[in-house]
Amino acid sequence: MSSYDLLIKNGMCAITLPDQSVRLEKTSIAIKNGKIQAIGLADSTPAKETLDAKGLWVLPGAIDSQVHFREPGLTYKEDIYTGTLSAICGGVTSIFEMPNTKPNTSTREKLQEKISLADSKAKCDFAFFVGATSENALRLDQIAQTPGCCGIKIFMGSSTGDLLVADDAHLEKIVANNRRPIAVHCEDENILKERKYIADQGHHPRYHPRWRNVESALNATKRIVRIAEKYRRKIHVLHISSAEEMAFLKTKKHVATVECLPQFLTLKAPDCYDTLGSFAQMNPPVRSGRHQEALWKALQDGTIDVLGSDHAPHTYAEKALPYPQSPSGLTGVQTILPLMLNHVNAGRLSLEKLVSLLSINPAKIYGARSKGGIEVGKDADFSIVDLKAKKTITNSWIRSRVGWTPYDGMTVTGWPVMTILRGQIAMREDTIFSHVIGQKIIFDS
Ligand code: DOR
Repeated sequence: MSSYDLLIKNGMCAITLPDQSVRLEKTSIAIKNGKIQAIGLADSTPAKETLDAKGLWVLPGAIDSQVHFREPGLTYKEDIYTGTLSAICGGVTSIFEMPNTKPNTSTREKLQEKISLADSKAKCDFAFFVGATSENALRLDQIAQTPGCCGIKIFMGSSTGDLLVADDAHLEKIVANNRRPIAVHCEDENILKERKYIADQGHHPRYHPRWRNVESALNATKRIVRIAEKYRRKIHVLHISSAEEMAFLKTKKHVATVECLPQFLTLKAPDCYDTLGSFAQMNPPVRSGRHQEALWKALQDGTIDVLGSDHAPHTYAEKALPYPQSPSGLTGVQTILPLMLNHVNAGRLSLEKLVSLLSINPAKIYGARSKGGIEVGKDADFSIVDLKAKKTITNSWIRSRVGWTPYDGMTVTGWPVMTILRGQIAMREDTIFSHVIGQKIIFDS
């Protein structure tokens, strides 16, 4: 009887070192009972199954810590099965899903319902956010202790759905009374309301970043950071889109961790609105090249901790409505890894840095102890990629129910070829293995 279930050998592996940095090393990884059991054994080590990863890079499973999967209520756009299938196809092994479903995920019952749904149909590992409202502020901490809950989500500005906490008094109540991670959508509701006429009169998505301007984002970011400082609580600010916010957040690392999105690092205004129209429309908006340059600098200097996709599917027909009736949000869970590998190949960031942004840091920020790194004792989740593969992203490859991507037709270098979930091959060259199913992620409380 061999003592290991799987031995991955000959791959270039992104190993986590004790100081949490990443080293690329040609080595072997032995797996038993879904966990990484040993690293660096001889290639001849017996195992029930051996996987030869020659010529490939073995990365820790990518965690997409911001997705919207629309179940319950809006499953004509996406459901937990199609969303997690899309994740697995794109090399993502864990997702954290947002509460702006219908109804909102703002009570323990609604949260538990989602977890039960996912237990029976998720293709990758999962966790759910509970949505903050003015009413549930004092119950959130309790609700967020539910196993499978990654934390609390606050919308400071209106976006898709009606979750909203716009005023400082309620924001303070939430921040002061909660110990679980708090993730915040920072756009200032009052400024958005005042400027809405710009969108209404503009009739084109190129007006989207003028309506939802830098000031609205910066103002909200400053307000929530001030509240976090006041109560000595850490917060995680989502999808930061502007140079001004990054300059501010660079000085606030003691209190705020920062997420950025591949969209903001890849698309830029006004070109994206001219070529994609409302298929580039999202909240907060994709901004100009000046902002994109600042975001890349922030990624290099350590201001940005996490990359998430903000996968937010709407149907083709909905997106094709005239602006501003067209809803905001882009698909992204399946393209986050290929897009970022393409940026690695273009020399914009190192593979080691990408592993920190997509695996190690999100696991650490949310307290997902079993996830986020190639390290003995962690779950055996891997995104195995071919860094040299040149492939074209197409709508037909996208497994999200809505079947479109803003990157349709874009050729990238670097591609996920295999997804391994707790030691089981879940995807190999686009073939999905139906027996592999997701589990809820357990967090430090
Ligand atoms: O563009 C967006 N779409 N931003 C959000 O904050 C929500 C998301 C959605 O759920 O559609």
